[in-house]
Amino acid sequence: MIKLAVFGNPIEHSLSPDIHAQFAQQTGLTVEYKKILAPINGFSESANHFINEGASGFNVTVPFKLDAFNFASKLTLNAKMAGAVNTIKIKDKVIIGENTDGIGLVNDLVSNLKIDLKDKVVLILGAGGATQGILLPILEKSPKRVMIANRTASKAKKLQQDFLSYGKTCGFGLEKIKHDPVDIIINATSASLDGKMPDIAGGCANGAICYDLMYGKQTPFMDWAKANNAAMIVDGLGMLVEQAASSFEFWTGKKPNTQPVISNLRR
Ligand code: ATR
Repeated sequence: MIKLAVFGNPIEHSLSPDIHAQFAQQTGLTVEYKKILAPINGFSESANHFINEGASGFNVTVPFKLDAFNFASKLTLNAKMAGAVNTIKIKDKVIIGENTDGIGLVNDLVSNLKIDLKDKVVLILGAGGATQGILLPILEKSPKRVMIANRTASKAKKLQQDFLSYGKTCGFGLEKIKHDPVDIIINATSASLDGKMPDIAGGCANGAICYDLMYGKQTPFMDWAKANNAAMIVDGLGMLVEQAASSFEFWTGKKPNTQPVISNLRR
Protein backbone atom coordinates (compact mmCIF):
# COMPACT_ATOMS: atom_id res chain seq x y z
CA MET A 1 0.00 0.00 0.00
CA ILE A 2 1.39 3.37 -1.06
CA LYS A 3 0.15 5.97 1.41
CA LEU A 4 -0.28 9.45 -0.10
CA ALA A 5 -2.30 12.57 0.66
CA VAL A 6 -2.76 16.24 -0.09
CA PHE A 7 -2.44 18.85 2.65
CA GLY A 8 -4.25 22.15 2.42
CA ASN A 9 -6.60 24.54 4.19
CA PRO A 10 -9.27 24.51 2.84
CA ILE A 11 -8.98 21.13 1.13
CA GLU A 12 -12.48 19.70 0.64
CA HIS A 13 -12.72 20.78 -3.03
CA SER A 14 -9.38 19.24 -4.07
CA LEU A 15 -9.54 17.09 -7.21
CA SER A 16 -6.23 15.40 -6.39
CA PRO A 17 -7.65 12.23 -4.75
CA ASP A 18 -9.79 11.60 -7.82
CA ILE A 19 -6.87 12.21 -10.20
CA HIS A 20 -4.49 9.95 -8.27
CA ALA A 21 -7.13 7.21 -7.99
CA GLN A 22 -7.26 7.19 -11.80
CA PHE A 23 -3.44 7.05 -12.02
CA ALA A 24 -3.38 4.16 -9.53
CA GLN A 25 -5.94 2.24 -11.53
CA GLN A 26 -3.99 2.76 -14.76
CA THR A 27 -0.68 1.67 -13.27
CA GLY A 28 -2.08 -1.20 -11.20
CA LEU A 29 -0.60 0.19 -7.98
CA THR A 30 -2.40 0.00 -4.64
CA VAL A 31 -2.62 3.57 -3.51
CA GLU A 32 -4.45 5.29 -0.69
CA TYR A 33 -4.61 9.05 -1.32
CA LYS A 34 -6.50 11.18 1.18
CA LYS A 35 -7.21 14.84 1.86
CA ILE A 36 -5.74 16.25 5.06
CA LEU A 37 -6.98 19.53 6.46
CA ALA A 38 -4.03 20.85 8.44
CA PRO A 39 -4.49 23.74 10.90
CA ILE A 40 -3.12 27.01 9.48
CA ASN A 41 -0.29 27.02 12.03
CA GLY A 42 0.06 23.27 12.27
CA PHE A 43 1.46 22.00 8.97
CA SER A 44 4.66 20.43 10.35
CA GLU A 45 2.87 18.60 13.14
CA SER A 46 0.24 17.28 10.79
CA ALA A 47 2.85 16.26 8.19
CA ASN A 48 5.02 14.50 10.79
CA HIS A 49 1.98 12.61 12.02
CA PHE A 50 1.25 11.36 8.50
CA ILE A 51 4.91 10.39 7.96
CA ASN A 52 4.83 8.39 11.19
CA GLU A 53 1.81 6.52 9.84
CA GLY A 54 4.06 5.24 7.03
CA ALA A 55 3.42 7.79 4.27
CA SER A 56 5.42 7.47 1.03
CA GLY A 57 4.83 11.12 0.26
CA PHE A 58 2.24 13.84 -0.15
CA ASN A 59 1.15 16.90 -2.08
CA VAL A 60 0.92 20.31 -0.53
CA THR A 61 -1.39 23.08 -1.63
CA VAL A 62 -2.44 26.54 -0.46
CA PRO A 63 -1.40 27.87 2.04
CA PHE A 64 1.36 25.40 2.94
CA LYS A 65 3.80 25.42 0.01
CA LEU A 66 6.28 27.61 1.88
CA ASP A 67 5.87 25.55 5.08
CA ALA A 68 6.63 22.45 3.02
CA PHE A 69 9.69 24.16 1.54
CA ASN A 70 11.00 24.74 5.08
CA PHE A 71 9.90 21.29 6.24
CA ALA A 72 11.88 19.37 3.59
CA SER A 73 15.38 18.27 4.53
CA LYS A 74 16.47 18.09 0.88
CA LEU A 75 15.24 20.13 -2.10
CA THR A 76 15.34 19.54 -5.84
CA LEU A 77 16.61 22.40 -8.02
CA ASN A 78 13.05 22.99 -9.17
CA ALA A 79 11.84 23.42 -5.60
CA LYS A 80 14.80 25.64 -4.69
CA MET A 81 14.17 28.00 -7.59
CA ALA A 82 10.40 27.94 -7.06
CA GLY A 83 10.92 28.81 -3.40
CA ALA A 84 8.01 26.50 -2.68
CA VAL A 85 7.25 22.79 -2.45
CA ASN A 86 4.09 21.07 -3.70
CA THR A 87 5.39 17.49 -3.47
CA ILE A 88 7.14 15.67 -0.64
CA LYS A 89 8.68 12.23 -0.99
CA ILE A 90 9.93 10.18 1.93
CA LYS A 91 12.90 8.13 0.83
CA ASP A 92 15.10 6.25 3.30
CA LYS A 93 13.65 8.54 5.99
CA VAL A 94 14.81 11.65 4.12
CA ILE A 95 12.13 14.27 3.40
CA ILE A 96 12.67 15.39 -0.19
CA GLY A 97 10.86 18.51 -1.44
CA GLU A 98 9.98 18.93 -5.12
CA ASN A 99 7.82 21.36 -7.06
CA THR A 100 5.93 19.92 -10.03
CA ASP A 101 3.74 22.96 -10.81
CA GLY A 102 6.01 24.38 -13.51
CA ILE A 103 6.76 20.94 -14.97
CA GLY A 104 2.99 20.40 -15.09
CA LEU A 105 2.43 23.61 -17.01
CA VAL A 106 5.22 22.87 -19.47
CA ASN A 107 4.05 19.29 -20.01
CA ASP A 108 0.53 20.53 -20.69
CA LEU A 109 1.82 23.07 -23.21
CA VAL A 110 4.29 20.74 -24.92
CA SER A 111 2.66 17.28 -24.75
CA ASN A 112 -1.07 18.04 -24.71
CA LEU A 113 -1.34 21.31 -26.61
CA LYS A 114 1.65 20.60 -28.91
CA ILE A 115 3.18 24.01 -28.31
CA ASP A 116 6.93 24.17 -28.74
CA LEU A 117 8.37 26.81 -26.40
CA LYS A 118 11.72 27.02 -28.18
CA ASP A 119 12.40 30.52 -29.54
CA LYS A 120 8.96 31.75 -28.45
CA VAL A 121 8.30 35.11 -26.81
CA VAL A 122 6.48 34.44 -23.53
CA LEU A 123 4.72 37.09 -21.44
CA ILE A 124 3.87 36.17 -17.86
CA LEU A 125 1.41 38.36 -15.95
CA GLY A 126 2.18 38.40 -12.24
CA ALA A 127 5.35 37.98 -10.20
CA GLY A 128 4.13 36.12 -7.11
CA GLY A 129 4.59 32.54 -6.00
CA ALA A 130 2.83 31.10 -9.04
CA THR A 131 5.23 32.85 -11.42
CA GLN A 132 8.29 31.88 -9.44
CA GLY A 133 7.06 28.28 -9.55
CA ILE A 134 6.85 28.07 -13.33
CA LEU A 135 9.88 30.09 -14.45
CA LEU A 136 12.61 27.44 -14.37
CA PRO A 137 10.77 24.74 -16.36
CA ILE A 138 9.74 27.36 -18.93
CA LEU A 139 13.29 28.71 -19.29
CA GLU A 140 14.62 25.16 -19.64
CA LYS A 141 12.65 24.91 -22.91
CA SER A 142 14.76 27.71 -24.42
CA PRO A 143 12.18 30.37 -25.25
CA LYS A 144 13.52 33.44 -27.07
CA ARG A 145 12.54 35.67 -24.16
CA VAL A 146 10.38 35.55 -21.04
CA MET A 147 8.85 38.88 -20.05
CA ILE A 148 7.50 39.14 -16.52
CA ALA A 149 4.99 41.95 -16.06
CA ASN A 150 3.61 42.74 -12.64
CA ARG A 151 1.49 45.39 -10.93
CA THR A 152 4.42 45.89 -8.55
CA ALA A 153 7.32 46.25 -10.99
CA SER A 154 10.03 45.65 -8.36
CA LYS A 155 8.85 42.05 -7.83
CA ALA A 156 9.10 41.34 -11.56
CA LYS A 157 12.60 42.83 -11.61
CA LYS A 158 13.60 40.70 -8.64
CA LEU A 159 12.52 37.52 -10.48
CA GLN A 160 14.44 38.67 -13.55
CA GLN A 161 17.58 38.90 -11.40
CA ASP A 162 16.98 35.56 -9.67
CA PHE A 163 16.56 33.66 -12.95
CA LEU A 164 19.22 35.51 -14.96
CA SER A 165 21.46 32.48 -15.34
CA TYR A 166 18.68 30.24 -16.72
CA GLY A 167 17.67 32.24 -19.81
CA LYS A 168 16.68 35.61 -21.19
CA THR A 169 14.16 37.27 -18.90
CA CYS A 170 13.04 40.83 -18.29
CA GLY A 171 10.80 42.25 -15.58
CA PHE A 172 8.68 45.42 -15.62
CA GLY A 173 5.36 46.95 -14.61
CA LEU A 174 2.03 45.98 -16.25
CA GLU A 175 1.71 49.47 -17.74
CA LYS A 176 4.88 48.87 -19.79
CA ILE A 177 3.31 46.01 -21.76
CA LYS A 178 3.24 47.00 -25.42
CA HIS A 179 0.63 46.25 -28.07
CA ASP A 180 3.19 44.14 -30.02
CA PRO A 181 1.88 40.57 -30.26
CA VAL A 182 3.72 37.87 -28.32
CA ASP A 183 3.54 34.08 -28.80
CA ILE A 184 2.29 32.98 -25.40
CA ILE A 185 0.67 34.88 -22.50
CA ILE A 186 0.38 33.16 -19.14
CA ASN A 187 -1.87 34.64 -16.48
CA ALA A 188 -0.21 33.92 -13.15
CA THR A 189 -1.85 36.76 -11.22
CA SER A 190 -4.46 36.05 -8.61
CA ALA A 191 -6.61 38.86 -10.05
CA SER A 192 -9.12 36.38 -11.48
CA LEU A 193 -9.97 35.32 -7.96
CA ASP A 194 -11.50 38.78 -7.48
CA GLY A 195 -13.12 38.61 -10.92
CA LYS A 196 -10.66 41.16 -12.28
CA MET A 197 -8.39 41.52 -15.28
CA PRO A 198 -5.63 44.13 -15.03
CA ASP A 199 -5.95 46.91 -17.59
CA ILE A 200 -3.14 46.09 -20.03
CA ALA A 201 -2.44 46.65 -23.73
CA GLY A 202 -4.67 44.18 -25.60
CA GLY A 203 -2.59 44.08 -28.78
CA CYS A 204 -0.12 41.66 -27.20
CA ALA A 205 -2.80 38.94 -27.26
CA ASN A 206 -3.45 39.18 -30.99
CA GLY A 207 -2.74 35.68 -32.39
CA ALA A 208 -1.25 34.55 -29.07
CA ILE A 209 -1.81 31.42 -27.03
CA CYS A 210 -3.38 32.63 -23.78
CA TYR A 211 -3.09 30.31 -20.80
CA ASP A 212 -4.71 30.93 -17.43
CA LEU A 213 -3.22 28.96 -14.54
CA MET A 214 -6.70 28.92 -13.01
CA TYR A 215 -9.25 26.30 -13.98
CA GLY A 216 -12.87 25.47 -13.45
CA LYS A 217 -14.47 28.54 -14.94
CA GLN A 218 -14.19 31.15 -17.65
CA THR A 219 -11.94 33.83 -16.14
CA PRO A 220 -11.77 37.59 -16.90
CA PHE A 221 -8.34 36.89 -18.46
CA MET A 222 -9.93 34.39 -20.85
CA ASP A 223 -12.63 36.93 -21.78
CA TRP A 224 -9.93 39.53 -22.36
CA ALA A 225 -7.97 37.08 -24.55
CA LYS A 226 -11.06 36.39 -26.65
CA ALA A 227 -11.84 40.08 -27.05
CA ASN A 228 -8.27 40.65 -28.22
CA ASN A 229 -8.20 37.89 -30.88
CA ALA A 230 -6.10 35.26 -29.14
CA ALA A 231 -5.39 32.21 -31.30
CA MET A 232 -5.92 29.74 -28.46
CA ILE A 233 -7.37 30.16 -24.96
CA VAL A 234 -6.65 27.55 -22.33
CA ASP A 235 -7.36 27.11 -18.63
CA GLY A 236 -5.13 25.37 -16.09
CA LEU A 237 -6.94 22.03 -15.84
CA GLY A 238 -4.31 20.28 -17.97
CA MET A 239 -1.60 21.75 -15.74
CA LEU A 240 -3.40 20.42 -12.66
CA VAL A 241 -3.43 16.87 -14.04
CA GLU A 242 0.12 17.12 -15.37
CA GLN A 243 1.55 18.34 -12.06
CA ALA A 244 -0.24 15.45 -10.38
CA ALA A 245 1.22 13.01 -12.93
CA SER A 246 4.68 14.37 -12.33
CA SER A 247 4.24 13.96 -8.54
CA PHE A 248 2.92 10.42 -9.05
CA GLU A 249 5.99 9.56 -11.11
CA PHE A 250 8.27 11.17 -8.51
CA TRP A 251 6.77 8.88 -5.83
CA THR A 252 6.28 5.64 -7.75
CA GLY A 253 8.58 5.77 -10.78
CA LYS A 254 5.51 5.12 -12.99
CA LYS A 255 4.36 7.65 -15.56
CA PRO A 256 0.57 7.80 -15.84
CA ASN A 257 -1.35 8.55 -19.02
CA THR A 258 -2.85 11.99 -18.46
CA GLN A 259 -5.09 12.33 -21.53
CA PRO A 260 -8.02 10.17 -20.32
CA VAL A 261 -7.86 11.81 -16.89
CA ILE A 262 -8.06 15.31 -18.39
CA SER A 263 -10.97 14.20 -20.60
CA ASN A 264 -12.79 12.70 -17.61
CA LEU A 265 -12.41 15.90 -15.59
CA ARG A 266 -13.51 18.09 -18.50
CA ARG A 267 -16.70 16.03 -18.68
P1 ATR B 1 0.35 33.35 -6.05
O1 ATR B 1 1.01 32.37 -5.15
O2 ATR B 1 -0.99 32.95 -6.57
O3 ATR B 1 1.25 33.83 -7.15
P2 ATR B 1 0.87 35.82 -4.74
O4 ATR B 1 2.27 35.41 -4.45
O5 ATR B 1 0.09 36.54 -3.68
O6 ATR B 1 -0.03 34.59 -5.11
O7 ATR B 1 0.88 36.69 -6.06
C1 ATR B 1 -0.27 37.23 -6.62
C2 ATR B 1 0.11 37.94 -7.92
O8 ATR B 1 -1.08 38.44 -8.54
C3 ATR B 1 1.03 39.11 -7.73
O9 ATR B 1 1.87 39.21 -8.84
C4 ATR B 1 0.04 40.29 -7.66
O10 ATR B 1 0.60 41.53 -8.00
P3 ATR B 1 1.42 42.38 -6.90
O11 ATR B 1 2.76 41.72 -6.78
O12 ATR B 1 1.50 43.74 -7.45
O13 ATR B 1 0.61 42.29 -5.62
C5 ATR B 1 -0.94 39.84 -8.71
N1 ATR B 1 -2.28 40.46 -8.56
C6 ATR B 1 -3.21 40.18 -7.63
N2 ATR B 1 -4.33 40.91 -7.83
C7 ATR B 1 -4.07 41.69 -8.91
C8 ATR B 1 -4.84 42.67 -9.62
N3 ATR B 1 -6.09 42.99 -9.25
N4 ATR B 1 -4.25 43.24 -10.70
C9 ATR B 1 -3.00 42.93 -11.07
N5 ATR B 1 -2.23 42.01 -10.44
C10 ATR B 1 -2.77 41.40 -9.38
